[in-house]
Amino acid sequence: MVVDGLASQAILAAMKRVELPCGAKVAALGQGTWNVGDDPARRDEEIAAIRLGIDLGLTLIDTAEMYGDGRSETLVGEAIAGRRDEVFLVTKVYPHHALRRAMQAACNDSLRRLRVEAIDLYLLHWPGDVPLDETVQAFEALQRAGKIRQWGVSNFDSKLIESLHAVPGGNAAQTDQVLYHLAKRGIEWDLLPWCRERRIPIMAYSPFDQGPLLRKKALAEVARRHGVAAATVALAWIMRHKDMIVIPKAAKLDHVRANHAALNLKLTDEDLADLDAAFAPPEGPKSLEMA
Ligand SMILES: NC(=O)c1ccc[n+]([C@@H]2O[C@H](COP(=O)([O-])OP(=O)(O)OC[C@H]3O[C@@H](n4cnc5c(N)ncnc54)[C@H](OP(=O)(O)O)[C@@H]3O)[C@@H](O)[C@H]2O)c1
Repeated sequence: MVVDGLASQAILAAMKRVELPCGAKVAALGQGTWNVGDDPARRDEEIAAIRLGIDLGLTLIDTAEMYGDGRSETLVGEAIAGRRDEVFLVTKVYPHHALRRAMQAACNDSLRRLRVEAIDLYLLHWPGDVPLDETVQAFEALQRAGKIRQWGVSNFDSKLIESLHAVPGGNAAQTDQVLYHLAKRGIEWDLLPWCRERRIPIMAYSPFDQGPLLRKKALAEVARRHGVAAATVALAWIMRHKDMIVIPKAAKLDHVRANHAALNLKLTDEDLADLDAAFAPPEGPKSLEMA
């Protein structure tokens, strides 16, 4: 439900959308939930932050069975109760659960914690030892059972996603969720162009490097120029890619508002040049980073 005063803000910053290969159009600016649900004293604030995010149109919510051993999914389930139709729910399965029977059990557990009947997008959290064709078959079985709508991967580099595309049904992956922020730009060299050519949106995680990025001088300078928070600039910089989704985690209401403001910020050529000077783009291939 949109509360008074927020409706107009939400309209002002109309949500930018990104189209997945399946045709679903999802919010480009979503919400991450790693480390939420761990501290009972922060629980109310964390739930309020997710709900404010939904009010503002940050309706893609990312979680994982791994986060807090399910506590994040449980908290997300509580935050979205009664609002299931407003959100696009993403959760992730452990690599050691990426076989048919184990994935079925893991998915049932996630559905129970999230209190929903189906997951919108179910991702393999990182590459593991299970052959990719068996993982694809496990995802397909869950789709047939109506428990997940779409599936994708996370932390796959360009070689691995190419291998995924080589197995039967592997080209149905809807996204690759990877680390991407100003100080970690390696994917611009190969993974991003590879995915872009095939219209597979990247989902960028840890857009603030979990916090330290926001204290960098060059970012603060651009933020000062626009009279916005450093976080707003960091997100606008990622969303300069029209085909990228980004999932900042914010458990404070002010943080959610500052993140939402990125939808209204257009960085100038001068801003982008200054940021490139401080955070150089890659000059060659680099191994995919996860932290
Ligand atoms: N697939 C993967 O392997 C993987 C790995 C890492 C993360 N992820 C996903 O990506 C999400 C985001 O990444 P992350 O949690 O690692 O880190 P992040 O989003 O880069 O940073 C989160 C930190 O930034 C703070 N913050 C948020 N908005 C802010 C603002 N406007 N101003 C100042 N500080 C702000 C948060 O504080 P408060 O919480 O106090 O507001 C929190 O301490 C995760 O939550 C998770 O869903 C996926």
